[in-house]
Amino acid sequence: MESSNGGKYKKNWNPAEHYKEIEIAENYDKARFASIPGRVFDMLEKKALRKMLSKLPDNSIVLDAPTGTGRLAETILEMGHRVVGVDISPEMLEVAKKKLKRFGDKYQTINSDVHSIDLEKGSFDAVLCARVLMHFPLEEQISFLTAVSSYSKGLVIFNQSVITDYHRMRRYVKRLMGNQVPASFPLTKPEVGQLISGSSLTEIDRDQVLPFVSEAVFFSCRK
Ligand SMILES: C[S@@+](CC[C@H](N)C(=O)[O-])C[C@H]1O[C@@H](n2cnc3c(N)ncnc32)[C@H](O)[C@@H]1O
Repeated sequence: MESSNGGKYKKNWNPAEHYKEIEIAENYDKARFASIPGRVFDMLEKKALRKMLSKLPDNSIVLDAPTGTGRLAETILEMGHRVVGVDISPEMLEVAKKKLKRFGDKYQTINSDVHSIDLEKGSFDAVLCARVLMHFPLEEQISFLTAVSSYSKGLVIFNQSVITDYHRMRRYVKRLMGNQVPASFPLTKPEVGQLISGSSLTEIDRDQVLPFVSEAVFFSCRK
């Protein structure tokens, strides 16, 4: 695919454009979460999310940005909350709306860039920012997370890939085997600190989803 960002992003693709292809949107869930390892990972991510949202009162309102195909919005809705899902890709939102139709108006969507959502700041009981930050360099991660956090009254949940020497070795082996290395911009432990403090957040808790198999970590923070 031709890069629309002057080759700024690794893999030569732009995360704000990539998911606007219908085929990519329609295959997103299947491509990542249909295999047995994918299903286990999806289940553990949802378990981590449920734990981090467990103290929210019933019928809270949560911003899911970006919502993608509504994969994690579904978990929040099943917990009895309302969700507003924001995404820059209308194609991803179409998939999400079809999938979450059964929740009626408890799931609302907005097609927007997270940097310019037409919503009142501080109006959500919690915000979620999942599986997107790893596509950007650290400064853009801070700007993205700051934008999403601005809509929360306090609780902010996000995930990111965090690498250690063990994960670097794992990436090396995966590359030798010809496997795709997923996250373009994983963070080191000190960089996680920069992301959190740079976004004016304080960490409450973290959950390393599958420590020896995946770099993914869920973070729960307050503003
Ligand atoms: C990999 S999906 C993750 C979706 C979902 N959070 C999940 O965990 O399955 C990343 C999403 O980010 C969206 N995205 C990328 N840049 C964005 C931006 N600036 N504003 C809003 N959405 C954006 C893409 O359209 C895509 O749907």
